[in-house]
Amino acid sequence: MSSSVFASTPYLNEVRFSPPFTDQKPGTSGLRKSSRQFEQPHYLESFIEAILRTLPGVKGGIVVLGGDGRYGNRRAIDVILRMAAAHGVRKVITTVDGILSTPAASHIVRQHKAIGAIILSASHNSGGPEGDFGVKVNAANGGPAPESLTNAIYSCTKGLEEYLIVENFSVPLDLPGQHKVGEMIIEIVDGLEDYVDLMQKIFDFDRISSYISSDFRIAFDALNAVTGPYARRILEDILGAPKGTVRNGIPLEDFGGCHPDPNLTYAKDLADLLLNGHDYSFGAACDGDGDRNMVLGRGCFVNPSDSLAVLAANATCVPAYRDGLAGVARSMPTSSAVDVVAKDLDVAVFETPTGWKFFGNLLDAGQITLCGEESFGTGSCHVREKDGLWAVLFWLQILAEKKSSVANLMAEHWSRYGRHYYSRHDYESVSSDIAHNLYSGLESRLPSLVGRSFAGRSVILTDDFSYTDQVDGSVTSNQGLRILLDDQSRVVLRLSGTGTKGATLRVYLESYVPSSGQLFQDPQEVLKPLISSIDSLAEITHRTGMSSPSVIT
Ligand code: G1P
Ligand code: ZN
Repeated sequence: MSSSVFASTPYLNEVRFSPPFTDQKPGTSGLRKSSRQFEQPHYLESFIEAILRTLPGVKGGIVVLGGDGRYGNRRAIDVILRMAAAHGVRKVITTVDGILSTPAASHIVRQHKAIGAIILSASHNSGGPEGDFGVKVNAANGGPAPESLTNAIYSCTKGLEEYLIVENFSVPLDLPGQHKVGEMIIEIVDGLEDYVDLMQKIFDFDRISSYISSDFRIAFDALNAVTGPYARRILEDILGAPKGTVRNGIPLEDFGGCHPDPNLTYAKDLADLLLNGHDYSFGAACDGDGDRNMVLGRGCFVNPSDSLAVLAANATCVPAYRDGLAGVARSMPTSSAVDVVAKDLDVAVFETPTGWKFFGNLLDAGQITLCGEESFGTGSCHVREKDGLWAVLFWLQILAEKKSSVANLMAEHWSRYGRHYYSRHDYESVSSDIAHNLYSGLESRLPSLVGRSFAGRSVILTDDFSYTDQVDGSVTSNQGLRILLDDQSRVVLRLSGTGTKGATLRVYLESYVPSSGQLFQDPQEVLKPLISSIDSLAEITHRTGMSSPSVIT
């Protein structure tokens, strides 16, 4: 424990700059830019000032602050503490070394009735001086700020030419403790404890522990990012998995050169262990800030859309969900695998735009218990963020209850519900003009496609996805081009809202095979007709000059 009291009247500075920054529009998940851009004088401060002017309840409120430990984390915490003090925040809760996963931050907001959180992360983007940095804002419910708030923050930045900051103090973050700066309290917590307690309330740890101590070895890859300390505490210290179960477990500023994105491309070492080796029965990885997860079994990759469906179908294996589900939700590009389960369970299913913020109202209103995205995100009403380690524990609990392997569980699932063959093809670093022209070119052709043939099927509907939030009535448009086919197959095209270099084109491909069909084919083979038809229709290869996607998941 450490404690200190800084000058009771710290020196308040009003810093002026000009012109205002015009590019601080938050994307799918916060403001994400290169580390270099964030290092420009006043850049970070401008965005933080806009947050502190816009977030309701700042004066006298509690703010949670932390990040995934990437390059820039420590400096940003220092700046934000000084700006929070200048804006009359009553208390900032931060963590030792400022290390805080996104789901853990969401939990702390809810537990301490904070007005929100500022989370420093560019999630799954690479880090370091040449990588990316990001600032995410969470609201009082613990979830990502809704569009109304991010739009207000953006408008504020566009006219901003000054910010308030307190000078001449810096707080050591190496130990838990309490510090006072003027009227503001800075509480440094361990950051792991609250989260670990929550997991122990949700899951039956004894049951998981006895399963993984039998002949069921697990490997977890933290990709040198934020989940390392959480995973070591939970998997090794509490559940008793052998030391070394958690690989790359120390958060590093540049993630040791890893791209902290848990997929088959960027978590290749783990994928090789599970897909080509025989030593492990279960493998998992999480992303930079701990909200994404990838799950693998021996010789078996679990597609994230399927993962959501499996969790929904087996939710009653977990003590916290023993009474069943209120409903489920998935983002539009996520496959309909969970819809089939929801129908079977007779619960509602909601289809939202891409991005976790759209689940918030449904969770708050108690309309859903589980939700997820195809981009390796799954979560529940326990927090208001997707939660990587929670998903890993959920899988382990199901496997422990069923005494099953991952591959068997998947086979049983498909033989009951049918299989949604699914893949996402990403074309990264496309020039922005080319990507936007390609997108609008396809958009203009959509109406004429209905009734025509596509990939040997017939097109039944095309649109640009639009969503009306049933809780607050807000409408979000232009969320992705959809081509729906008569055999429940579909293709979706979107431009990423999280990239920082040029544009990223995402093509989502899905094809349904009922339980009586061929359930064990290679997804890329099954999806081939859709892949080649969308390529020629949208002229992807022709316009981008790329003969294959940069990443296939
Ligand atoms: C991506 C994912 C999306 C996720 C977001 C934040 O956004 O596709 O599902 O919510 O990252 O993790 P995109 O780059 O597609 O806008
Ligand atoms: Zn993330």
